[in-house]
Amino acid sequence: MSKVVGGIFSSHVPAIGNAIAKGLQGDAYWKPFFDGFAPVHEWVERVKPDVAVVFYNDHGLNFFLDKMPTFAIGAAHEYANEDEGWGLPKFPTFEGHPELSWHIIDHVVGEEFDPVTCQKMTVDHGLAMPFALSWPGLAKWPVKLVPININTVQHPLPSPKRCFDLGRAVGHALESWKGDEKIVVIGTGGLSHQLDGERAGHLNPEYDRFCLQHLATDPEALLKHSVLDIVELAGSQGVEILNWIGARGAMDVAGRGSVVELASNYHIPISNTAAATVLLENREAVTA
Ligand code: DHB
Ligand code: FE
Repeated sequence: MSKVVGGIFSSHVPAIGNAIAKGLQGDAYWKPFFDGFAPVHEWVERVKPDVAVVFYNDHGLNFFLDKMPTFAIGAAHEYANEDEGWGLPKFPTFEGHPELSWHIIDHVVGEEFDPVTCQKMTVDHGLAMPFALSWPGLAKWPVKLVPININTVQHPLPSPKRCFDLGRAVGHALESWKGDEKIVVIGTGGLSHQLDGERAGHLNPEYDRFCLQHLATDPEALLKHSVLDIVELAGSQGVEILNWIGARGAMDVAGRGSVVELASNYHIPISNTAAATVLLENREAVTA
């Protein structure tokens, strides 16, 4: 039987890619952020997940303003890493898991979601950074990938509840998957940041702390704000918390009552972002 063993939640700032390429992990600026991944390294080494189901947002690489799906699920055999003009070094191509992708798609459509299905898809920093942080320095990723894209870019954006419910539907799909893989869910982006406009540079540690406090024990607390409330609180890119909410929804089903927080790190700023890392474990699945 497959099982959802845990969740990794991480910011995805592109500058992390350059810091990795230049070996800056120990520099004063970067160290407090990279150090937050030591428990993740220990955990992936110990638990050895086989598959990552990743809730993230594309930043104009696959979907531009002229065609913007609210939800899109990858069903490709592989996903190449590209960037959208940051000049980032390229990370290894991600191996897909099309059978599991189609199982998830079937299941969420059965629960009345209408995702775009993508048999060709490239992935940007929104997906690659948490991989590079969690499994550093590898020539081949040790997990297969199912990417689930949430529109956090062009309004109207889906509500936090809708994203949580999508996550729960994905969780149901994972529960009914007949494989025997260990699955980690990943939520990327956030926390508070705004990259442009009058409030560029806006950060909100109070709201971020609220999210971090409730993510493990009471994730539905994050649903009390509307998506426009979140734009106001966390900044126009701070809405990437929707990806965390989706991933946490998937764990809510598969981890039922057994989700524990193993690590949480918060560091301001990395580039323009309040950066955070959280590691949750589904205790029952790991100890069974
Ligand atoms: C930054 C953060 C992001 O989430 C992103 O997608 C691009 C840039 C930043 O802080 O620089
Ligand atoms: Fe982003």
